[in-house]
Amino acid sequence: MTSLIEIAPPPTPYPTTSGRLIDSFGRVHSDLRISVTDRCNIRCFYCMPEQGAEFAPVSSLLTFEQIVRFVSASVPLGINKIRLTGGEPLLRPKLPELIAALTEMSAIRDLALTTNGVLLRDLAQPLYDAGLRRLNIHLDTLDREPFRSITRRDDLARVLAGIEAAGKVGFHSIKLNAVAIKGLTEQDVVPLVRFGRERNIEVRFIEFMPLDGQQLWSMDRVLTADDMIAMLAQEFGSLAPVPDGDPRAPATEYEFEDGDRVGFIASVSRPFCLNCNRLRLTADGKLRYCLFAREETDVRPLLHAGASESELQSAITSTVWRKWIGHDINRSSFVAPQRPMYSIGG
Ligand code: 5AD
Ligand code: SF4
Repeated sequence: MTSLIEIAPPPTPYPTTSGRLIDSFGRVHSDLRISVTDRCNIRCFYCMPEQGAEFAPVSSLLTFEQIVRFVSASVPLGINKIRLTGGEPLLRPKLPELIAALTEMSAIRDLALTTNGVLLRDLAQPLYDAGLRRLNIHLDTLDREPFRSITRRDDLARVLAGIEAAGKVGFHSIKLNAVAIKGLTEQDVVPLVRFGRERNIEVRFIEFMPLDGQQLWSMDRVLTADDMIAMLAQEFGSLAPVPDGDPRAPATEYEFEDGDRVGFIASVSRPFCLNCNRLRLTADGKLRYCLFAREETDVRPLLHAGASESELQSAITSTVWRKWIGHDINRSSFVAPQRPMYSIGG
């Protein structure tokens, strides 16, 4: 008779005093993505349903004070890079106050924000004044009709004004993010990169991932990095992988002959889980070790109850220790997470 093999529980979590946040596969975590709201002012179909999106009650969102306390606890563990996301983070009232508080933390050597750009024209200056220097702006197309059908809103002109305002205010590191979907994005790949090259803005294409919450995703709807590299090479001449790129960064970067770059977040065709150094905190205080995780740690009650730094650190280290080896999008065993993208944070 065959007996079931017992899987030993993982050894005790890595000691918090080590100053490094290591998972059971040896990956060191230094990057925290914080969602500040799950609400959004547009409705990209690959992320949100047109109607009936379910949002967490506003009363369940972490306060800025709680977010800062969480970050302070994670810094001694080695977190030194933060990205604020949403939903649409610019919908969160007084966001520059949070930016200013995070900018003051000297251990945070990199602070960035991902936005859809709709509200950026008026907020670019306050964000810059609060200390933000890096922006990723989401833009899938430069054409009004496709923009409207992807986002179900007629806001392309506002996004373009937001990009222009950010450039004028002095943001040097602006990147554009586009989700790459087969049968849709092909017509936008070259125009978006041309638009970026004319403005010194790097474009990054993100392969469509199964995070729409509506089961719209399928493998044959993914426009892959290889597909796009071929299209770009035909238009702009050869492009080559950047040799000394950071292996832990999700984007693989390519360079044109004149030095301009384009990035691909090829989560589906070239999964990069083995180099992952990221953790995510949702707007309602759930700590996740992966976009696709099927479990999460609720740190809000801890923050609410005034937990000590070491209690918070135990919650963080044990979550990281439970991290799996990676997502299995490419296998039939894949189960999409219950939370869609807008409620996780990109
Ligand atoms: N697949 C890939 N990327 C997505 N995003 C949102 N939904 C998806 C999806 N289904 C990206 C958007 C946004 C970032 C936060 O997440 O590009 O910029
Ligand atoms: Fe909003 Fe971003 Fe989702 Fe689009 S991808 S609906 S901008 S949260």
